[in-house]
Amino acid sequence: MKAIRFAQFGSPEVLKLEEAPTPVPGPREVLVAVQAASVTPGDTKLRAGQLQKLFPVSFPCVPGRDGAGRIVAVGAQADYADVGDPVCFVADRTKQGSYATHIARDAESVVPLPPGLSFAEGAALMHAATCAWIALLDTARVQAGERVLVLGGSGAIGGMAVQIARHLGARVVTTCAARNIEYVRGLGAEEAFAYDQGAMPSASQPFDVVLDLVGGEAHERSYPLLRKGGKLVWLISRPFTDRSAQYGVQTLQARIVDSPRVNAIVVELAAEGAIKPQVSRVMPLAEAAQAHRMVEAGQASRGRIVLDIQAS
Ligand SMILES: NC(=O)c1ccc[n+]([C@@H]2O[C@H](COP(=O)([O-])OP(=O)(O)OC[C@H]3O[C@@H](n4cnc5c(N)ncnc54)[C@H](OP(=O)(O)O)[C@@H]3O)[C@@H](O)[C@H]2O)c1
Repeated sequence: MKAIRFAQFGSPEVLKLEEAPTPVPGPREVLVAVQAASVTPGDTKLRAGQLQKLFPVSFPCVPGRDGAGRIVAVGAQADYADVGDPVCFVADRTKQGSYATHIARDAESVVPLPPGLSFAEGAALMHAATCAWIALLDTARVQAGERVLVLGGSGAIGGMAVQIARHLGARVVTTCAARNIEYVRGLGAEEAFAYDQGAMPSASQPFDVVLDLVGGEAHERSYPLLRKGGKLVWLISRPFTDRSAQYGVQTLQARIVDSPRVNAIVVELAAEGAIKPQVSRVMPLAEAAQAHRMVEAGQASRGRIVLDIQAS
């Protein structure tokens, strides 16, 4: 098979398009011919060696958190899918990522591609939507009618969070770059504030939940925006000064774990049209390094950059 691999940590130049052994599915696994793989900020951190304590990889390493494709072989005991089925999947970065023409996955990691979605949309769906669901539901337990502020609503996870919170009946406010205000409104945000113009919501209408996908100053400025007992949920904010006692709020980390339960939920939401995966751009697999540069430069706005695996 063809795969993007790196044999040392470093800048995007370490990513090479190479021939690699095609994986052989185990008895309970399926082999997926990958059509599309999303490019996440986590992929760039993995490549740079920043995640080695959390996700230790060995070289050569194929990056890629999720993708979509078609099943081309099934193991003898894999009764959950058939050859030809279109699927989405999550990859295990410590084994093999999704930047490859083939990947072997198990029942825990494979779900049907929702009808009506392209492979690119299927790839953009999985990691972004599962992170948003875990943050909003499993961590913050958002209820209908609550006021939710999403810091970074124009990103891949933020865009999913805006859609999911809106679908749950929450009233959603978000922050994003000025050029993305109309975009996030289209996703369901009632109000949007341009962080690059210094705008933030006022404290006069406090929030029940803040989902912090940005960190830094945005994290600092969100404490006074919460009601007493409100929840500040974060994915990436560390290091930060925990001011929850000072403001009488809860500061909660969204712990992102692969979950077949959550995978099934987001696929169902996409199938019923409650959420729409956002694809910012499609690039050939061979341009993975350029895709990483764009993510690192903050140019991957409005959803995921998706690699077209078969175009290479
Ligand atoms: N710890 C974990 O388990 C975990 C899991 C998943 C993701 N993460 C992290 O969560 C973050 C978001 O992930 P993602 O995939 O959604 O990234 P993404 O698609 O690259 O989105 C990032 C968004 O952040 C927005 N942004 C940047 N500075 C901002 C600011 N000061 N205020 C408001 N918005 C700002 C940008 O908005 P504009 O485009 O409008 O400028 C951009 O669209 C990443 O850092 C990722 O590494 C952590």
